[in-house]
Amino acid sequence: MILLCLHDIRILVTSLALFCTAIVKASPSLPHAYSRQVEFPAIDIPSHLKILNPYPDKPRLTFSSSGTFKLTVFSDLHYGENPWDDWGPQQDVNSTRLMRRVLSSEKPDYVVLNGDLITGENTFRENSTTLIDRIVAPLNEAKIPFSSTQGNHDNEQNITHLEEIRREQRDSYLSYTRTAPPGIGGEGGEGTYWVPIYEKATDLTPALILWFFDSRGGWSPGSTSAPLPDWVDDSVAGWIERETAAMEAGWDSVEKRERGALAFVHIPPHAIENVQKTLNTTINPGLNADTLSQGSTQATSNPSSAGKDQPFWDSLNTNIKNLHAVISGHDHGDEWCAREPSKDVIFCFDKHSGYGGYSSAGWGHGVRNIVFPSADPASGLETWILLEDGQTRARVTLDGNYGR
Ligand SMILES: *[C@@H]1O[C@H](CO)[C@@H](O)[C@H](O)[C@H]1NC(C)=O
Ligand SMILES: *[C@@H]1O[C@H](CO)[C@@H](O)[C@H](O)[C@H]1NC(C)=O
Ligand SMILES: *[C@@H]1O[C@H](CO)[C@@H](O)[C@H](O)[C@H]1NC(C)=O
Ligand SMILES: *[C@@H]1O[C@H](CO)[C@@H](O)[C@H](O)[C@H]1NC(C)=O
Repeated sequence: MILLCLHDIRILVTSLALFCTAIVKASPSLPHAYSRQVEFPAIDIPSHLKILNPYPDKPRLTFSSSGTFKLTVFSDLHYGENPWDDWGPQQDVNSTRLMRRVLSSEKPDYVVLNGDLITGENTFRENSTTLIDRIVAPLNEAKIPFSSTQGNHDNEQNITHLEEIRREQRDSYLSYTRTAPPGIGGEGGEGTYWVPIYEKATDLTPALILWFFDSRGGWSPGSTSAPLPDWVDDSVAGWIERETAAMEAGWDSVEKRERGALAFVHIPPHAIENVQKTLNTTINPGLNADTLSQGSTQATSNPSSAGKDQPFWDSLNTNIKNLHAVISGHDHGDEWCAREPSKDVIFCFDKHSGYGGYSSAGWGHGVRNIVFPSADPASGLETWILLEDGQTRARVTLDGNYGR
């Protein structure tokens, strides 16, 4: 480890050696270090390498001691419906119960909240973000690191993606949610970022990158006349290209290593609509009760925006290597995985977790679990749907053979 660092001083200047030393000596690993604010030495990383270290003040996220990494995805929680009635608040009590049950039975290494945390249409200017406090409470109690994407219902008259993100960051030291750099993501689309997962806390470069994209939608605060675009903004395409180039330049010069990747975006890319026509219940098990149509996938709410998510979809699939899957919520009645043929990439729906938001008899509520059996980016991952009552279904192995 130290040898590698010393070796690379040649190419990488002294401050990176400091960075390497800091990693080896100072980085704690979860779960034991989460509960205190860990002191890190100030690290002066050259600006072109700052990308290597987006969480200088948080513990490094790692695979478990047994070499696996387990994610649990809560999606479409839809807190805050009809606060003036009994049933709205009762839904949220139920959703919190579901979160507590699942977290205690699954003990994931990381949690993703994949959009539509709040039904913003029903919330009030003065207290919308207090719903975020309730949503993160079970995660804080369980001391599980997490991050979120936001959905179309999280941009409304009385709530915005950015307000939710800032509240989450304020509420929880365990939140790894970040915002995109200025100028990236478009209005209402601040929640675009990536999170590095290391095999071991002392590793110099990560084994897995979790990517999070903001598909916007909903409304600008105070506006009911101009809906926000419902796709990942064009500016994100160039950002992905620059980030991946900087990762390769920076990390590959420290340590040559393949990295895996997994992407989360609330509204499914438009290409997924065609995939639904070719599902086979053996290969693509799971509920398929929502027929994808206008508004179900990106850039389809308004016919004039057709194709607008293509720059994002192209860049994602061109620049991100070893992309295991792209995972979305939004369509509460779908929970299948499938291979998308135009990009040869696997797509999975989440499971509707919240008691809020539209549903139908028999759909149930639960989560998607994802397990990486090892840090090797070539190994397939296991994923399945877990319902609140403990039932599991739609288990598939997502590897190079899946869906071919
Ligand atoms: C927000 O304020 C409204 C109006 O006072 C109230 O009905 C509602 O219960 C409050 N919601 C939360 C989450 O505190
Ligand atoms: C809350 O959960 C209980 C028990 O599963 C269920 O009977 C009830 O209908 C749920 N209430 C709402 C408002 O979702
Ligand atoms: C937004 O909040 C204001 C002030 O709390 C409230 O009067 C208004 O009804 C809310 N708007 C919506 C769409 O709920
Ligand atoms: C579905 O896939 C299975 C497994 O590959 C195959 O045996 C079956 O024929 C397929 N069914 C249809 C309707 O294509």
